[in-house]
Amino acid sequence: MNEALTMDAARTKPHLPDAQVVTSVKHWTDRLFSFRVSRPASLRFRSGEFVMIGLMGDNGKPLLRAYSIASPSWDEELEFYSIKVPDGPLTSRLQHIQPGDEIILRPKPVGTLVVDALLPGKRLWFLATGTGLAPFASLMRDPEVYEKFDQVIMMHTCREVAELEYGRQLVEGLEADPLIGETVQGKLRYYPTTTREEFHHMGRVTDNLASGKVFADLGLPKMNPEEDRAMVCGSLAFNVDVKAILEGFGLREGANSEPQEFVVEKAFVGDGI
Ligand code: FAD
Ligand code: A2P
Repeated sequence: MNEALTMDAARTKPHLPDAQVVTSVKHWTDRLFSFRVSRPASLRFRSGEFVMIGLMGDNGKPLLRAYSIASPSWDEELEFYSIKVPDGPLTSRLQHIQPGDEIILRPKPVGTLVVDALLPGKRLWFLATGTGLAPFASLMRDPEVYEKFDQVIMMHTCREVAELEYGRQLVEGLEADPLIGETVQGKLRYYPTTTREEFHHMGRVTDNLASGKVFADLGLPKMNPEEDRAMVCGSLAFNVDVKAILEGFGLREGANSEPQEFVVEKAFVGDGI
């Protein structure tokens, strides 16, 4: 059946248990896409959490992977921001979804990148590479974040400029957003960088923190445990390196059960890990 590219409300009713209907899909590069699906009426989540989503496998069993919810908790749909792994069991198929298709979504949100896992502070830093932006796409749109922190700084690093585009458009759209625009204005600072293509700001998150360049560029004091809080989401190597730098600034890692000055979550489970 050839589905229309936009959905009418009647088609957002899924047929299978735990299934949701895809309402839109956008491809950003040959490695990245985002999509929106209907939201289960009962699903409550905290911005920054992840759920298991997937497709039915050829063997008739669900093929599920962890995905951060990229939309804020007040949104009536759910948004995801995804990698396309060419031979990846899930994403080699998921990248071909169209509006009207169904995906499986287990409605049990969990995760450490939640505001509740941090002690109160003045500034909140979001530190991400690649699709590690996804949980922050949710948090950046959550009014609670701006109620709790005077300033929010989004550092996002990718190899190439095109890989920053989803985040760039999201941040740009925020200030004009009728729901949250006023709350965000003057509070959200965006610091995108590339490492392998010329751009106005370049360098790894780790290097820009360790050298103090990001603090100088934004006119902010060096990170300190009294004022700064951070959330980290990238590859395991990125997370390990950022954690060491944050600890060097005197920040301690926290969790839901024991809030501290920073929290970390893997954006994906890497090769051999
Ligand atoms: P897999 O067999 O799962 O992965 C194959 C290989 O591809 C991995 O070994 C790794 O080298 C690489 N890879 C996998 N995911 C990524 C990625 N996101 N970026 C770069 N390289 C990757 N993925 C998303 O795209 N968006 C998300 O919001 C997201 N949230 C996650 C949250 C958590 C807590 C975890 C643990 C993972 C998350 N992932 C996310 C990764 C996701 O679960 C899958 O690994 C991904 O969808 C690829 O699935 P696959 O079956 O095609 O390949
Ligand atoms: P670089 O280009 O210098 O490797 P990837 O596409 O490999 O997941 O990387 C995404 C981004 O994260 C790239 O800009 C990459 O920089 C950067 N990166 C990779 N590993 C680390 C790390 N250990 N610390 C900081 N940045 C990293």
